[in-house]
Amino acid sequence: MKIDKPAIARAVRGNAVARSLAHLGELAVFGSSLREKFARGLLSQYYRSVFRRHWAWQVYGEPHFSLHSVSLFDLLDGRLGQGIYSLTRAFLSAEIIREGDHVLDIGCGDGALTRRFYAPRAAHVDAVDIEESAIHYAARHNAAPNISYRKLDAVNEPFPRPTYDVIVFDGAIGHFTREGSAAVLKKISSALAPRGVFCGSESIGPEGHDHLQVFATLDDLRSLLAEQFRHVRVKQQEYPLQASSWKRIEGYWRCSNGEGRLEELDWK
Ligand SMILES: C[S@@+](CC[C@H](N)C(=O)[O-])C[C@H]1O[C@@H](n2cnc3c(N)ncnc32)[C@H](O)[C@@H]1O
Repeated sequence: MKIDKPAIARAVRGNAVARSLAHLGELAVFGSSLREKFARGLLSQYYRSVFRRHWAWQVYGEPHFSLHSVSLFDLLDGRLGQGIYSLTRAFLSAEIIREGDHVLDIGCGDGALTRRFYAPRAAHVDAVDIEESAIHYAARHNAAPNISYRKLDAVNEPFPRPTYDVIVFDGAIGHFTREGSAAVLKKISSALAPRGVFCGSESIGPEGHDHLQVFATLDDLRSLLAEQFRHVRVKQQEYPLQASSWKRIEGYWRCSNGEGRLEELDWK
């Protein structure tokens, strides 16, 4: 038998005694804001420790990807500050995905953005990364029935499917050599469905030593993309990194080979 939850809620709302009992019941079983404060405090300590293990002590080796659970918790806790802009890339990519799309996420890292931003509307997401530790972490912490995580070198191995509606390449192209990225962009261009969109992001300007190529300006990024795609749109955004005076400039792109697809995504 299907329970009509909205009807029950309406009935409880409409009766002062039932409403007070429901309120007291919720507090008794699930706790008050005091419990929330305590739980948040515990979680805050936990995520600070996750951050230290990953970045400071490097217990899983030198990190090439972020554990987004730390910043997502900071967002919940109201401490992310301007770090919120590091999530722009995920919203921009998610906006492109349509119901039932097949998505490829190249260099998926910990899979946190794959699961939260790319999988909800997609029919299926193939999420690939060259690092065993990334795939292991993603499969353990960010699994979903419509995501297949796979260890794969995007330069030298074939993609899991021949075509995709959306291909996401967030924060990864700088980790490829110039030759490697030219090869991977060529593969992406031929794997894009006729009305497909290729989107992604990378920092502009100086970067860490695990970056194998650096884009001095947004135009450098545009030129590289224009070698493989008929239509290229780019833009950039500057934001300060948390706990640092350094400002990050992030370049974003959307590319297609089909006519009109990028215009459809523009605001009218
Ligand atoms: C900075 S992380 C970005 C992770 C995630 N996309 C995000 O936006 O947070 C870059 C990822 O690219 C992966 N990567 C580097 N070279 C690769 C290659 N040849 N094939 C697949 N993944 C690669 C790295 O292992 C790393 O996890």
